[in-house]
Amino acid sequence: MAATKTYLTGIQTSGMPHLGNYIGAIRPALEAAREHDSMYFLADYHALNSVRDPAKLRHDVRSVAATWLACGLDPERTVLYRQSSVPEVFELATVLGAVTAKGLMNRAHAYKAARDRNAEAGVDDLDAGVNMGLFNYPVLMAADILVMEADIVPVGRDQRQHIEYTADIAGSFNHLYGAAYAFPVPEGEFPEGESSLLPGTDGRKMSKSYDNHIPLFLPENKLKKLVRRIPTDSTPVEDPKDPDTSAVFQLLEHFADADRTAAVRKRLEAGGMGWGELKNELFDVLNGLFGPMRERYDALMEPDSELDAVLEDGAERARARAKATMAKVRAATGIA
Ligand code: ADP
Ligand code: TRP
Repeated sequence: MAATKTYLTGIQTSGMPHLGNYIGAIRPALEAAREHDSMYFLADYHALNSVRDPAKLRHDVRSVAATWLACGLDPERTVLYRQSSVPEVFELATVLGAVTAKGLMNRAHAYKAARDRNAEAGVDDLDAGVNMGLFNYPVLMAADILVMEADIVPVGRDQRQHIEYTADIAGSFNHLYGAAYAFPVPEGEFPEGESSLLPGTDGRKMSKSYDNHIPLFLPENKLKKLVRRIPTDSTPVEDPKDPDTSAVFQLLEHFADADRTAAVRKRLEAGGMGWGELKNELFDVLNGLFGPMRERYDALMEPDSELDAVLEDGAERARARAKATMAKVRAATGIA
């Protein structure tokens, strides 16, 4: 057994990440990557289940990879790769399919939710609109994890069942073939406590599905416009204000350093600072933090940037690991 644990996670490739994704997923993952052996991959074959536009799929994968690099991911330390660059993932998914009960998939949350939606809409065929990619999603995700012999999988709480399924599926394989080869059984790592959710431009949780999100790398004028749109009440400039009920202040708190946040808090509580000025302050903080990253992002998105070479290098390292696992799996199962 390796002494150091390997951290692995899959990144959805659905468009440019927003400030909420940065706080909830990207920043913690970058911190973890500084401390652990880590592998992060772009889950492009998972995206294929729902994205039908080839140009969009291609663009989104590059865009998400460029975002993580621009935010500071060090590709020397962390293996960054496209899922589709590692065909062993799909070979292992076939092997795992042979040891996975269909009933387990019937109980998967995403699949059940799709059936419930059909039931609610009065559709007779509860499987209407469900493709095999959605149904098999947990098996492919198990393959993503097990092919790299990952130990720890940092994910959002909504992914808990997927990690349990992966452990289940690894257990089935190990039960049958463990004398020859056994997968390390991975553990999920979930955010602790009530992780603070970043509000969006309408004050609700920032989310792509609410269309209230602020993408990470916007041109200055667009960023300014979105910040202006965040709702505030009509308290006059001179009056004292409660910073903790303001979405603008909550955003500021996540991105400004402690001194700056404390100074603004004091001024709001004392009165004399208007919401407009607070918004200018937030714009300034966001632009200062993400401006340089945006330049890096734009450079990486150029057609001949080093982005593709970085992903190629990651793919090579990931594949070497996946090949070694598959050799053991093939031998254990009698396929070799
Ligand atoms: P969206 O709601 O925009 O579709 P996702 O569900 O794809 O975002 O979230 C991807 C990751 O970003 C998850 O780890 C999630 O916890 C984090 N995240 C998303 N929105 C927020 C938010 N408003 N505040 C904090 N973290 C968030
Ligand atoms: N299902 C994960 C999500 O929706 C993404 C993902 C795909 C993943 N394969 C993975 C995460 C393997 C961790 C490990 O966020």
